[in-house]
Amino acid sequence: MNIVLLGSGGREHAMACKIAESDRCTTLFVAPGNAGTAGVDKCRNVDINPTDFDALRSFVLKENVGMVVVGPEAPLVAGVADFFASDSALRHITVIGPGKAGARLEGSKDYAKGFMARHGVPTAAHRTFTLGTLDEGLAFLRSLKPPYVLKADGLAAGKGVLILDDLAEAEAQLREMLAGGKFGEASEKVVVEEFLRGIELSVFVLTDGRHYKILPTAKDYKRIGEGDTGLNTGGMGSVSPVHFADKAFMRKVEERIVSPTVKGLHQEGIPYKGFIFIGLMAVADEETGELNPYVIEYNVRMGDPETESVFPRIKSDMVDVFEHVGRDTLHQVTLDVDSRSAVCVMLTAQGYPEHYEKGKVITGVEDVQDCTVFHAGTRRGDDGSLLTAGGRVLCVTAMADTVPAALLKSYQELEKIKWEGCYFRRDIGQDLLKMMIS
Ligand code: AMP
Ligand code: GLY
Repeated sequence: MNIVLLGSGGREHAMACKIAESDRCTTLFVAPGNAGTAGVDKCRNVDINPTDFDALRSFVLKENVGMVVVGPEAPLVAGVADFFASDSALRHITVIGPGKAGARLEGSKDYAKGFMARHGVPTAAHRTFTLGTLDEGLAFLRSLKPPYVLKADGLAAGKGVLILDDLAEAEAQLREMLAGGKFGEASEKVVVEEFLRGIELSVFVLTDGRHYKILPTAKDYKRIGEGDTGLNTGGMGSVSPVHFADKAFMRKVEERIVSPTVKGLHQEGIPYKGFIFIGLMAVADEETGELNPYVIEYNVRMGDPETESVFPRIKSDMVDVFEHVGRDTLHQVTLDVDSRSAVCVMLTAQGYPEHYEKGKVITGVEDVQDCTVFHAGTRRGDDGSLLTAGGRVLCVTAMADTVPAALLKSYQELEKIKWEGCYFRRDIGQDLLKMMIS
């Protein structure tokens, strides 16, 4: 079968490797892909923008494509799955990714909060405000204890969440967000919520709309600076599995969160074939110390860079699994997972996540041993040299029996990769190691 994968980051490179590995895959077209996906066996990059549905339509018909796997959220929020479902020439093609209705779980934080409330999914207490209810919003803020959590309702490129210690600052930011000055339309509604104290992790679910499989857990590192300081980024590294997400914790996650979420989608008549990425806070019970999961957010896609540590651990044939998603028979498959740990460390351009330069020559990737180098933002120059083409550039994934061993391998090998201004965090996974020791 010919398959199309939409996207161009490290997540898509990791997915491309897994998909292309399957005997069920003839050619994998990555639209638009990057220099990494271009080098994967059976893969071809195609110059199609993932939100240009008409171009996609012509291409899949010409190439007799049987499956489309969607990497990022933009085409989902724009309705790529609905576009395929409503076209008689495309309807037979399996699309891995929800339609617009399901994508609202990520596209609107207010909608996601309402969904969680309807289905009893534990999350931080909240209220949503608009410019018309600004005074109530300010009064609600004053009733909360710091820190204050303000969230733009819509997509704001991962920057729409503010966590503020100072009440006056929180009031000023709420005013500015609702007036549209801060995130434009995305903050016409603002969710104000209780701050949850705990440790974060990501849980990934694949569903056919009725049945589901829980993928390996992961933790990502969002801030640019060591010790989780500085600006938010797309993610600077990830570790899978997360040791404290043990059987007892994951049972709670499944019973309280995953099962009601999938049932809720079904009950509300929302077809959903694809990934659900559940951002969780594990909060310790004040009396017993037992960890309980609360949802921070839903995303309707895999995480990046979580995919770069989660997908290498999946041993099952992913195309076979996706075909079961297409046929609503996901309960018939067993997901085989490698018991080893995987870690990835992201190498970024100097200046990221603010202004950075592109086009720097990268050397040393071929010298890396016993790790997988996933490309996040790269391209080939006219002379074939590898060039930086984004803020997040390369991601070095290592697998080993333990997290410390995997970290050692990744950090040892990534030193071989060089370009002017290459930056990475040296403390990926250190918080987990400290927890394991204490
Ligand atoms: P989000 O964009 O929803 O993932 O939020 C960005 C980050 O803000 C999360 O990864 C958390 O670290 C933090 N955050 C969001 N909501 C809360 C909350 N209610 N309590 C504590 N931290 C939060
Ligand atoms: N790593 C977080 C995300 O993909 O949103």
